[in-house]
Amino acid sequence: MSLDLPIRPRRNRKSAVVRDFARETFVGPEHFVLPLFIHPGKEDQPVASMPGCSRLTLDSMLREAEGAMKEGVRAFDLFPAIPESQKTPGAQEAWNPEGLVPAAIRAMKREFPESLVITDVALDPYNSDGHDGLVQDGKILNDETVQLLVMQALCHAEAGADVISPSDMMDGRIGAIRGALDSRGFTDVSLLSYCVKYASSFYNPFRDALDSAPKFGDKKTYQMDPANAREALRELEQDELEGADIVMVKPAGPFLDIIKLVRENTVLPVAAYQVSGEYAMLKAAAINGWLDERRSVLESLLGIRRAGADLIFTYFARPAARWLKEG
Ligand code: PBG
Repeated sequence: MSLDLPIRPRRNRKSAVVRDFARETFVGPEHFVLPLFIHPGKEDQPVASMPGCSRLTLDSMLREAEGAMKEGVRAFDLFPAIPESQKTPGAQEAWNPEGLVPAAIRAMKREFPESLVITDVALDPYNSDGHDGLVQDGKILNDETVQLLVMQALCHAEAGADVISPSDMMDGRIGAIRGALDSRGFTDVSLLSYCVKYASSFYNPFRDALDSAPKFGDKKTYQMDPANAREALRELEQDELEGADIVMVKPAGPFLDIIKLVRENTVLPVAAYQVSGEYAMLKAAAINGWLDERRSVLESLLGIRRAGADLIFTYFARPAARWLKEG
């Protein structure tokens, strides 16, 4: 006996061919940015809370990038682990032209001129108190910090960065950096703003990787309250006016609604960052055999794309590219 049903959505799922016709969202290696941790040591150092990720020497960074490019991943974001001895309250190492990041940018652009090299602009890896901005009497100074971020951004641009990505959440930094880049002739350097970045608990493994956790307090006076959605639109409006080329939402998985909100309110490309804690959760479950790694990772990436992200920063970029190729 059959039910008298006028609509049977299952018909559009009945075979692989029909499912391919009906598919709305695609994810591929062209959507990925691979974050790379680099350090000045002689050997790679595995990051305990991020199995499969290491702090890389510059040679290993180049090998990793080469492997990724063969798999179709062409964009890289560089994050430095700075030795304690180079961290200062003024974060001066952040704009040292002979520092680790400028050296890494030059090496990447020399070996792989066709790659897209993105650099993180924020003071936390360089600052002895681990905050993204300059600290005075326990407060994070905004306007003074912006001056330093401008110097850091110029240093990266001079080394050859393609995209500068301020992750600090100070007010007004996009406009200040855009102006400084343009006045020095770096009109082609793009700004990918960490526009909507939440004060999230999911960054802890990253702070292990860089040894960059704040030495006091938290980041709640500059990163956004996870309870807020409307405020994302204020950040978006400001970054658009100041000249951002791409806007990011971060983290991704717990904030899919925000990705969708930003997608619906801008014509700019929207990036999402599947952060270290999201990686660690999936990886831990996979290692324990509680989740099928391949299927759960690809589903998480598809979800981020479906929410409206054009590009995804993900530590799974290489395995995901391989799995997608295998089909
Ligand atoms: C630094 C920065 C952070 C991340 C990217 N850039 C950490 C933070 O804001 O504390 C997090 C990335 C991740 O968790 O994968 N400003």
